[in-house]
Amino acid sequence: MKYHIITWGCQMNEHDSEKIAGMLEKMGHTPTKSYEEADIIVFNTCCVRENAELKVFSSIGNLKRLKNKNPNLVIAVCGCMVQQKHVAHKIHERFPFVDIVLGTHNTHRFPEILECVVSQDQRVIEIWDESKDIVENIPAKRDSNIKAWVTISFGCNNFCSYCIVPYVRGRERSRKPQDIIKEVKKLAEEGFKEVTLLGQNVNSYGKDLSEEVRFSDLLYKVNEIPGIERIRFMTSHPKDLSDDLIKAIKECKKICEHIHLPVQSGSTSILKKMNRNYTKEHYLGLTEKIYREIPGVSITTDIIVGFPGETEEDFEDTLDVVERIRFDSAFTFMYSKRKGTPAAKMENQVPDEVKKERLQRLMDLQNRISKEKNMKLKDKTIEVLVEGYDSKKNLLVGRTRTNKLVYFEGEPKRLSGKLVKVKITTPKTWTLEGVLVAQ
Ligand code: 5AD
Ligand code: SF4
Repeated sequence: MKYHIITWGCQMNEHDSEKIAGMLEKMGHTPTKSYEEADIIVFNTCCVRENAELKVFSSIGNLKRLKNKNPNLVIAVCGCMVQQKHVAHKIHERFPFVDIVLGTHNTHRFPEILECVVSQDQRVIEIWDESKDIVENIPAKRDSNIKAWVTISFGCNNFCSYCIVPYVRGRERSRKPQDIIKEVKKLAEEGFKEVTLLGQNVNSYGKDLSEEVRFSDLLYKVNEIPGIERIRFMTSHPKDLSDDLIKAIKECKKICEHIHLPVQSGSTSILKKMNRNYTKEHYLGLTEKIYREIPGVSITTDIIVGFPGETEEDFEDTLDVVERIRFDSAFTFMYSKRKGTPAAKMENQVPDEVKKERLQRLMDLQNRISKEKNMKLKDKTIEVLVEGYDSKKNLLVGRTRTNKLVYFEGEPKRLSGKLVKVKITTPKTWTLEGVLVAQ
């Protein structure tokens, strides 16, 4: 059969979709880019903000037409959104043409469930409340053959008061270091050049394992694997980012100088309500240390505006942090109420118009800073890992060690997967353009 997977949300979800694709291919199914041609359509969903959910609901609605045309079409809805029981029920009731509803803890059961649906013509909803043991060796069909995501831990223990992730992904569970190393070695043998180690809070990696191992210990081990040229990781939590991690970044040649360090808010009182466990001053001090210790590092962040009770003064603290730290880039979000999280019940919810206005001011400021920081790279020659070819722009595309996208002319076949030197000619707000100077 032919399958088509649509993914919403974060890198963790993208990687889960690669695993679903891997399992489907192992069963003998093949991918198709077209909805119309597909025999299996999988939606891998996100629920971190309400608009993600609304988009999924409307996309599911649109599938009815395809199912009417092809009654044998199998439709599966998986991932974070359906891990919420009320959503799983709603999908089951409102969309009788959805065949499979599968939560986040049992993705590995997809092949068995699919067989059951196909052979017995049944609908299956399977949502586990928690994960049993971590299931290793799920085959992943990766989108790229140059860079790969490698999950190092699942779930989250932080319970930031706005966030639904701990409820839909469960408690933090670290993979054993030897399993991670084995996977990275295999990727290196297959020719991958870059790995990104993924976890909701990579800094607390290993705390739940019987043999205590720190995230920095893992990084030193990955750094020794021949063939891998670049190591990235995300996400870091400001309360846990430790000196040994900064030391590891300095000492390990392959670790890229980029830290994604979500600040969420610049106001200490809002950070407290968010249950982030750090203050504005701690964050400022930490980023100062990172800039001082790691020359050329880029720091990127996530920021939420309009958290319940956020005053104009609180918001100005956020602008102040952005102005002082000068992030390379930031993902900015309007606070979105998530059912079941403590913040959803907090008083003084901020009206939408205020959120929108704050978001715009924040984006204007960050865009100016991103552009100014990128302008500093004009005429500089920088190492870029060529990731592929952008057929719309007719240019090669790659990334700097600091995770900036660079476009330039070159031969895709010869240069894909290679480290090259590019002289930056045209810095823009979100990307850089340049010319190849050496290979
Ligand atoms: N509303 C808005 N943004 C949120 N995020 C997480 N939960 C919410 C929410 N309820 C943002 C945070 C996080 C990023 C992945 O999504 O900034 O770091
Ligand atoms: Fe959500 Fe906070 Fe965990 Fe990140 S650290 S996934 S924001 S609860």
